[in-house]
Amino acid sequence: MHKVIFDTDPGIDDAMALLFLDASPDVELLAVTTTFGNGAIDTTTRNALYLCERFGIPALVGRGAGVPLVGQPGPAPHFVHGHNGLGDVALPAVISRTADPRPAHRLIIDMVRAHPHEVEIVAVGRMTNLAMALRDDPGIVPLVKQVVIMGGAFGIRGVLGNVTPAAEANIWGDPLAADEVTAASWPLTMVGLDVTQKTQMPTAYLHALQETAGEAGRFIWEISRFYEKFHNDGGVESIFVHDSSAVAFLLKPELFETRTGAIRVVTEGVAFGQTIQKPDSVSFPPSDWDGRPSHMVCTDVDSEGLRVLYAETLRRLA
Ligand code: BDR
Ligand code: CA
Repeated sequence: MHKVIFDTDPGIDDAMALLFLDASPDVELLAVTTTFGNGAIDTTTRNALYLCERFGIPALVGRGAGVPLVGQPGPAPHFVHGHNGLGDVALPAVISRTADPRPAHRLIIDMVRAHPHEVEIVAVGRMTNLAMALRDDPGIVPLVKQVVIMGGAFGIRGVLGNVTPAAEANIWGDPLAADEVTAASWPLTMVGLDVTQKTQMPTAYLHALQETAGEAGRFIWEISRFYEKFHNDGGVESIFVHDSSAVAFLLKPELFETRTGAIRVVTEGVAFGQTIQKPDSVSFPPSDWDGRPSHMVCTDVDSEGLRVLYAETLRRLA
């Protein structure tokens, strides 16, 4: 059983990943912690509470950071996730679920200390909450079982960023946080655009989910209409599978190929937000990667296997 903290900025693909975790028989979801990103922190926290209420997800919800470690948040990508972050589907005016009184980073620390060596953190938004948890209590590092991040773009098969040619959105939104999180010696894997753009869910696949995965399937169909239009407008036929790829790595890592090496994140200049791994297999003269822990970066994925895992898992909710 995976004891999971899901750190997220819902977000259409975040919602799809949360329902994936919820449907998995191998996951005990301890907490959903929120960050700014696909919307302001009020929006993403409201969406997390709404999703937990609507789908009866018993996890605690912790409201997290509203700004990066340094500077101010960039504008929310309404053109990707809609003004309400969930594809502009109608949401209730009042949500009864309330957030835990602790800020997200404290909730993360408390959960890790309550379940030493058991907690797995799946982080699919800005890394700000994780960096704040590390700053507050660096002692959690050896107590975390693993961290799986959706973020970054490592240039595998020529893949570029999606905010700038250099930077992927989750990292671009708080590069310093990502650099601090990848400096920590906890088992960490980055599931970047290199693999998340390779896996796509075509309209027919989403339609089949609507027919076979109960209320969750119908909801995924509704919220993905906006997301699909964004992809189509950009010349991509199907939606990319970003955040659910991180969940798939947690559940079935054998679907992925990985490369090990130290990771740095560019925190200023034209390549702001770029993620660069120094592969362990390549030697260089002394550099800024020295002394940093070796982490895994996903370099390939069995996309069809991932789609099958997602659909089979979601169907359990029917
Ligand atoms: C990431 O950015 C967000 O828009 C998505 O939710 C995903 O986490 C992809 O770059
Ligand atoms: Ca996200």
